[in-house]
Amino acid sequence: MNKFFVSTPLGFENTALLEMKEVWPYLLGKDSKTHSLPFPEVEIHQGGLEFETEMFQALQLNFFLKTANRVLLRMTSFRTKDLPKFYQKFKSLPWKEYLAHGHVEWEVAAQKSRLNNEKRLQESAEKALSEIFAGQKGEKPCASIYIRMDDDLCTISLDSTGEHLHKRGWSVLKGEAPMRETIAAELLREMIGEATPAEVAQVTVVDPMMGSGTFLTEARSLWAGQFQREFAFKEWKKCPKLFLSPSFSLNYEMSSKAPFKAVLGFDINPDMVPAATKNFEEVERQLKTYQRDAFQSLPHKFLHQDSLKGADLGGATPVWMVVNPPYGERLPVAGKGGLKALAGELCRLYGPQKLGILYPEKERVSSIPEGYTLEKEVKINNGGLRCLFTILTTV
Ligand SMILES: C[S@@+](CC[C@H](N)C(=O)[O-])C[C@H]1O[C@@H](n2cnc3c(N)ncnc32)[C@H](O)[C@@H]1O
Repeated sequence: MNKFFVSTPLGFENTALLEMKEVWPYLLGKDSKTHSLPFPEVEIHQGGLEFETEMFQALQLNFFLKTANRVLLRMTSFRTKDLPKFYQKFKSLPWKEYLAHGHVEWEVAAQKSRLNNEKRLQESAEKALSEIFAGQKGEKPCASIYIRMDDDLCTISLDSTGEHLHKRGWSVLKGEAPMRETIAAELLREMIGEATPAEVAQVTVVDPMMGSGTFLTEARSLWAGQFQREFAFKEWKKCPKLFLSPSFSLNYEMSSKAPFKAVLGFDINPDMVPAATKNFEEVERQLKTYQRDAFQSLPHKFLHQDSLKGADLGGATPVWMVVNPPYGERLPVAGKGGLKALAGELCRLYGPQKLGILYPEKERVSSIPEGYTLEKEVKINNGGLRCLFTILTTV
């Protein structure tokens, strides 16, 4: 057993735990059949989840968690105020079991500790690693090591993920101000809330200002695996052989059904239609490679349309509308009351069963449109901007 830390954006911890619980029963064992390992005891921390389990299962979380940032293998944690002790501890770790050579990337953060000089900590760790590998260094870094010193508690971790998990490996084109996939996944989960899978399966998701379609591609793939991007653990000497086989993803026995009934998107910018289409098609292409015969395309339409002039939803019902409008000057409805008026306008035009709208906190939707009630207001840090995600539901 090893200790792991799944890091998440602040506030996403409970959703990541829910995702982990949902996917757990479908993970594989070393015989490439569905495993029966019990769900670990998970400690929820600010910014992540800590638990102990088998490496084989923990690494697979990389393929499925949509609201997490990365999965770290905890190498050790210990208290120290002393650099030589730090150096000795670092050097005693089994780096040779994981790393091909001594060239790695470093993420060092120190606070409220006697050893608070990040540069010196890194130099000390670099020296230890160079000695372990007798100066042998590859051209490219072979891993990322995280060192964290907090209140004299030192935690050393090895990153199993590589590029941040919001990089799904299927988004080919981006529009203006695209949102992070992790945020889109979190907000869709907030909209689902307590709804059952059967209820969600009836819903058409509509994004009236879709940009490159992040909400819609996430709606398509919320319960699916991402297998075609690279993961750092595949470079580890200890990487389980199964994950290096191109066909291992065929072994998962989870349902290939998409969570929703259909998706529909509009954008006033005609360039966004081919962008959203390409992104969505790439997701479906990737899912098809591992779902094979069970794959079913999700009905989808992406149209060039000013959604504030009203648009045809093709009789879809129920509709959940989810929107990340342009902020400030860029909003074309500015003359009509700007963002504050947008929620009311969308409810009036389309009467969705639910509306989820992400916008800057300072423009809080204060008047609830007639026929709607405030279901939830979630604080979200959207690229450094303090935002709210307001969910309105029909009464
Ligand atoms: C912040 S971006 C959305 C980004 C999107 N969530 C993504 O991740 O790619 C806002 C989008 O709204 C579109 N837009 C602005 N006004 C619109 C309108 N009246 N009707 C339809 N689309 C509109 C813009 O063209 C832009 O693509």
